[in-house]
Amino acid sequence: MLFDTPATENPIDRLREIGQSRARVDGPLKVSGTARYSYEYHDVAPDIAYGYPLGAAIAKGRVRGIDTAAAEAAPGVIGVLTTLEAPRHALGPMNTAMLFGGDEVEHYHQAIAVVVAESFEQARAAAALLGVDYEAQPGSFDLEEAAREVADEPLGNDASHGDFETAFADAPVQLDVTYRTPDHTHAMMEPHATLAAWDGDELTVWSANQMIGWGTRDLSAALGIPRAKVRLLAPFIGGGFGGKLFVRSDVVMAALAAKKFGRAVKIALPRPLVINNTTHRPATIQRLRLGTDRDGRLLAFGHESTSGNLPGGGGETATQQSAFLYAGANRRVGERLGLLDLPEGHAMRAPGEASGMMALEAAMDEMAEKLGIDPVEFRIINDTQVVPGEETPFSERRFAECLRIGAEKFGWSDRSAKPAERREGRWLIGMGVAAAFRNNLLMPSGARARLSPDGTVVIETDMTDIGTGSYTIIAQTAAEMMGVPLDLVTVRLGDSRYPVSAGSGGQFGANCATSGVYAACVALRTKIAERVGTDPDGAVFEEGEIRWGNSAVPLAEVAAKGELVAEDTITFKKLGQQYRQSTFGAHFCEVAVDAATAEIRVRRMLAVCAAGRILNPLTARSQVIGAMTMGVGSALMEELAVDTTRGFFANHDLAGYEVPVHADIHEQEVIFLDEVDPISSPMKAKGVGELGLCGVSAAVANAVYNATGVRVRDYPITLDKLLPEMPPF
Ligand code: MOS
Repeated sequence: MLFDTPATENPIDRLREIGQSRARVDGPLKVSGTARYSYEYHDVAPDIAYGYPLGAAIAKGRVRGIDTAAAEAAPGVIGVLTTLEAPRHALGPMNTAMLFGGDEVEHYHQAIAVVVAESFEQARAAAALLGVDYEAQPGSFDLEEAAREVADEPLGNDASHGDFETAFADAPVQLDVTYRTPDHTHAMMEPHATLAAWDGDELTVWSANQMIGWGTRDLSAALGIPRAKVRLLAPFIGGGFGGKLFVRSDVVMAALAAKKFGRAVKIALPRPLVINNTTHRPATIQRLRLGTDRDGRLLAFGHESTSGNLPGGGGETATQQSAFLYAGANRRVGERLGLLDLPEGHAMRAPGEASGMMALEAAMDEMAEKLGIDPVEFRIINDTQVVPGEETPFSERRFAECLRIGAEKFGWSDRSAKPAERREGRWLIGMGVAAAFRNNLLMPSGARARLSPDGTVVIETDMTDIGTGSYTIIAQTAAEMMGVPLDLVTVRLGDSRYPVSAGSGGQFGANCATSGVYAACVALRTKIAERVGTDPDGAVFEEGEIRWGNSAVPLAEVAAKGELVAEDTITFKKLGQQYRQSTFGAHFCEVAVDAATAEIRVRRMLAVCAAGRILNPLTARSQVIGAMTMGVGSALMEELAVDTTRGFFANHDLAGYEVPVHADIHEQEVIFLDEVDPISSPMKAKGVGELGLCGVSAAVANAVYNATGVRVRDYPITLDKLLPEMPPF
């Protein structure tokens, strides 16, 4: 199904299942511990062996030799596979550094060996006996230095328009500030883990991966075998946040070790390797230059961001939102990329906007104060209905409404415009606001729909559920389309034998995957209508029946003559170029800061989201409050500490890398505007999971400023940065 004209009325609009809050259909499996994750398959192959990986102890250089004798002699050890015996392999388009193979070390904890043993403990103990001879080389580990090197280079992702320099110089009110965001790690609960089993020349891997299609493509390339010989399964995934978008070293090592030792092998990356061996969200240095007239209209808008990565890697696209969010004819917007030899920087939840909004939305708060304009109003003054510098309209843009509704519901009028004015006992109280913005991406997505002889509907797609609720919204979509109750739908996900879906990433999963299921169900409806001898366009699917004219046949009766199977893929064209599709919102936050110790408590948060049709308000809300919690993390605590001498992230575990939980925040509210976007898809939905994060940290930072009068431009806002500037106790 090609989607290239706006959606008209369709069966989804009945909203009997879609748009309703439904508990997760996979919830009972999750809470009873019977949903199985990659490392938990114990019975799918005989004699499963355990691999324990070794990461390089240098950040750059080469491995001269690995002494495996002691490890091989250790109890229970089956053998050792080293990087020196594995050739460098082909990398998928999303990978930067070699995953496993060759003697070159490109970053700290690059995988260089795996010990395979009868038990996990034996493998781990033996891995400590490996002797590695390194030839270390100096590397570049300091973003400040790397940024200076590229300071004069032209901007990448250049979205500049007009004459910024002149407009900024002439602007009656100016702000020129630099914000810094640190490296972040995904900190998902389930580590990267794979079980690999060969059957002749056919490989099956159970591997935690958000994108099954990319996974088989890249794994077959890495192993040099046909894609049809690789089966990838990931029916349940314990979080990803972008860290599991790509094939990583666990799956390559498991496949190679299983081949070498003739045993199925499972490997989970130990947490330090999750952090230093896989990817992270790169740190940024962001300069914001805003110039306005006295009424607060932006005349000059400058946002330049620098991040770093390994040679061949990409930069953090932190200025992404700055091309779209606010008006202003004269703009200087773009990015620079320095060279770093730290572990590979890549996508983490809402790559680009999550970091960019941390800086932009705090700078907007600073500018509003300079102008003496309320920060909600300042944003509304600079709203735009077309992409600035172009004339492309937005498919939907209810940004101002989100701000107004949020201000009303949150009690924004109680905020003191002057900072450090509100006090309750020892607590200084502040409120902050920020815009939420994230683009809406469209990816092709396929599905297969079956009508079984017993009248149940089965959906198969390689879509993943990384904790987001994919199973549930896909079941709701099928139930709506086929006119059957939810419990007559079975959803099968995360298997490369199923049609290739959008996968889970970039907040495109929900809208695109359900649109693919919509397409497959349209095809199944056609087959059912044909079998009963009627025109599919005139048929209605309701209460487990196909109805037309004065006739009705139960679906079970139709399928009794044999199962019906239909498959289709939704593809998107044209509308994506004619309209800018984005999601909008507003984040509000209230904090209390201890006047003596500067301890920060987040008291209340509110997100107002305009993101197309909300497929399931319950699971969407869970996405958004999870994202808000993540945003509190990047505002107040999350930071990978870079050892700039040896080139690695020092706090490489969940004790040293602190993340907040919901219990840290007493009150979180989410309001979804009642919106449908027929430009986006037949579901008229858009993404919302990443919108929930974008802007949150700035709202927290702005609240901390409002409480204390202290502006910290170097995230996270920790006590040591606040204390020296705090008002007298
Ligand atoms: Mo998201 S960073 O595209 O999983």
